[in-house]
This record gives sequence, structure tokens and C-alpha cells, in this order.
Amino acid sequence: MQSRFLSFAVCVSLCGALLASAPGPAHAGQAKVVVRAADGKETISRNIYGHFSEHLGRCIYEGYWVGEDSPIPNLRGIRNDVVEALRKIKVPVLRWPGGCFADEYHWMDGIGPRSERPTMINTHWGGVTENNHFGTHEFLDLCEQLGCEPYICGNVGSGTVRELQQWVEYTTFDGVSPMAELRRKNGRDQPWKVRYWGVGNENWGCGGNMRPEYYADLYRRYATYIRNFGGNRTYKIACGPSGHDTHWTEVLMREVGGRMQGLALHYYCGSGKRPKRATEFTLEDWYAQMRRALEIEAILEKHEAIMDRYDPRNRVALIVDEWGAWHVVEPGTNPGFLYQQNTIHDALVAALTLNAFNRHARRVKMANIAQTVNVLQAMILTDGARMIVTPTYHVFEMYVPHHDATLLPTDVECERCGPESDRIPVLSASASRARDGKIHVSLACLDPENGVDVLCEISGASPQKVSGRILAAEDLNAHNTFERPEALKPESFSGASVEGNAVRVSLPPKSVVVLEIE
Ligand code: AHR
Repeated sequence: MQSRFLSFAVCVSLCGALLASAPGPAHAGQAKVVVRAADGKETISRNIYGHFSEHLGRCIYEGYWVGEDSPIPNLRGIRNDVVEALRKIKVPVLRWPGGCFADEYHWMDGIGPRSERPTMINTHWGGVTENNHFGTHEFLDLCEQLGCEPYICGNVGSGTVRELQQWVEYTTFDGVSPMAELRRKNGRDQPWKVRYWGVGNENWGCGGNMRPEYYADLYRRYATYIRNFGGNRTYKIACGPSGHDTHWTEVLMREVGGRMQGLALHYYCGSGKRPKRATEFTLEDWYAQMRRALEIEAILEKHEAIMDRYDPRNRVALIVDEWGAWHVVEPGTNPGFLYQQNTIHDALVAALTLNAFNRHARRVKMANIAQTVNVLQAMILTDGARMIVTPTYHVFEMYVPHHDATLLPTDVECERCGPESDRIPVLSASASRARDGKIHVSLACLDPENGVDVLCEISGASPQKVSGRILAAEDLNAHNTFERPEALKPESFSGASVEGNAVRVSLPPKSVVVLEIE
């Protein structure tokens, strides 16, 4: 018999003291949250709110790159509307050029005069022509326009050590060298700062189908030649496991250990009960999707446990550099382009996943949702000159106050809902304290049918004032379209009030709320 309530140990990484301070059991339709305001010690890296953009479908071309001669307003070929929208969500870091594309990409094809760059086939994604007009200079220009840090993924699967070595030299060396001279010849005098370097992508799959033992040796070799030039301090990220694959993590931690600064986990939580178009979800799909998204908690825990054994001083970060929901493509689009709509259920997936990353801030130092524009769980969709932002975008915007804030441990006690096969907790939560002392609590009501009343106790602080914003929808598949671009957007939230040292919150079904408590 299923228990009606869940002592929500998903907050586990930090919830040792739950029972000592938690209030009594919750009642039907109710939940209790304790925010331990005096126990904050970890910083939530803003890089947890990072992004990933690949040469895939219409992400780079059309999504960002329209070319200097385009009628679509642009700066040096990069569209202004997309940059402006992304600046609002304060993209901290952007991973490029793949994905699977990275292990087929030869960066020298993408430098020099555009008219002279070779045209190739993007064999992995739709077999379309890639003219290499968007290359290293364009990517680093994009990062400068966005005000974010670049994260470049090198080619291990079909590239060479020399290629990667030269890419680092080309982008970051300040002195006299063949690569620095080539960069200058191509119009960039000063080197860029490129801290984050990935050593291959999914090398257990599209990046070469390697065994972890073989990849670990290759990693050691490639990483040796990722040099620190001048003031550029590189941060090397090894290919990590897929989802639950603990063997890969075990071998990498054993064989590579402190030679990497990050280990990159990938986890896609699929689609509905069976793969569906984003806008075709039934209730059954909703529960299945949320249940799989919630698995991120167990996945993080198992990899962290291995990392804690090999790296008790917490020097190697867990980097979730690909994550998100993966639906069936929209009708009439190239299946290799992975173009999908984005709905309120995607917003809930984003909210609960970001809550999990926040709570795991001790080990998780970066995450990159797949992918920023027109691909998978995108922030932005474009259609020619038109652009809309998605419900997932709004969650990223609402969660900005968590960037670089101090994580406040949260203990949640709530009911579960859904069918036996896909039982889910009705509530997901995380909290942080900003530098100005304000506390932000993000709450997601995962129940698609019923709201939940939350008593949110702020232990160790005296709340005086609460305000908030909400993203919610009636329809299971609510989404924005080019005709109705603001069908779904955050509104100000009036469902929270201070009650002693707690805040009482009334969450409607299918909602994401971020509270600001003073
Ligand atoms: O994001 C789409 C693809 O998913 C990436 O190229 C690959 O790394 C993953 O399998």
C-alpha cells in the first residue's frame, strides 16, 4: 500500500536535521516546507543556470546567426532580439559547438574569411549543409554580446590532440606563436578568456563508442595539452556518464581523479508515457514525464556518492552539461532538427530540475540545458524574423535571484499524486539567500489537477514581508505561439502571506512560484 505522504527526502543532500525541526505531518492538499535560514553554507553557482547550443537544426543558423546582410536586425551577423532576450535571463555560460557535432567538428574549418570556409555535411543532424559561417570568432563574439563565459567542447572522437592544443593556443595565447598570429590575421588582436574546455562529448556513444578505461587514458593525454596561457586559467571537463551509469563515473574518478575539474553528466528525461509531441500530453503523460524528471535527484546522489569516495575534498565538480525534456518533433519539420514546442509541463520540468541542482550545489557547479534556441527544451523559438520566449525561459528568468546566492537547506513534507506506476510528490522546492539578505523560495506544484496549500516555515529568521511571481496555466499543454506570444508569462502572485515565522502559500495546480521574503 502506497503511503499517502512522502517525507520528502529528495532534499536529502542537506536534510539530515529534518525530523528535529520539521513540523508535524501534512494534511490532504497541504504541504509543509522548512527553510533553514540559519544553515546556509554553500553558494549556488550561477553556472547551474547555463545553456548549451549546438550546430543542430535551427539553433545556430537562424537561431543566432542570420549573417551581416540579413534584414533581421543583427550585430555582426548575430540577431539582436535573441541576444536581448537571453541577456534578461543572465545566461552565465554557454556550451558549444556540440553535443555529437563536437566530435566531428574541426575548428579550423570555421575561421578566416567566411567565403573561403569549407562547406561540409552535418552528418549527425539531418545531413544538411554546414557552411562554417559560424565559427570560433562568431561564437566568442556571441558570448561577449551575451555577457557570458564560453565553454568549448573539443573533438576527441575524430580529432587530434594537436587540434585541441592549437584551439586553446589560438583563442587564449597572448604572445608570439603560430596560432596567436593566425588569430591576429583573422582580425582578433587580444586573446579571449576561455576557461571551460570539454574533452569530448558522450564518448561512450556518438563521441567514439569508447569504454571508460580507454576514454580515461585518452582524457589524460588530451587534457595534458590544454595549457594555461597568460592569465587564462583553464577548467577541464571530462566526458561523464549517461544518466544512471555509475560504472563510467567509477572508472573516471579512479583513473582520472584530480586531473579534471569537472565530470559531465547527461540526463534527458524523455517525453510523456510514450514519446509525444509537446502539445499532445494527457494526464498520464504528465505524471510519467514528471516522474522521470524527478529521477535527477537519485542520479545526482549516486554519482555524488562515488565522487565523495574518490574526492572527499569536493574538488571535482559534477557538471550536468546536457539535460531537459525530449519530445517528438513538430509536424513538417526535419526529424534530425529536434524542433519541439515548449509547454507548461516543460516549465515544471525546468523548475523541479533547477530546484534539485540548487539543493546539490555542493557538488553541482554547472548545468547546461539543451538547447537554447529552436532545439529540444528551448528558451526561444524563432520563425524567420519572429521570435517568442517559452515557458521554460520564464522559469529561468524567475530563478535569476538564485544565481550565486547562498543555498538555504529546505525540508519538504508533502503528499504524492498520480497513478501507481508514476507516483510523484506534489511539491518541489528550493531556497536561497541573496547578498542583500532577501530570501527566495521557489516552489513548483507538480500536481496537474489540484492545488496545494503550503506552510513555509522560515526557521532562524523573522519574515516581515512576502511578495512573489507565478507562472501557471489551466491547460495541460498551454504554450506560447507566434500568434499568441504571451499566452503564458509570469504574473505577480498574491497567494502568499506572512503568518508568524512562516509564510502561507496557496499554489494552484501546474504552477511555479518564486517568493521573495524580507
Ligand atoms: O542535445 C542533442 C544531443 O543529445 C547531443 O548532441 C548529444 O550530446 C546528446 O545525445
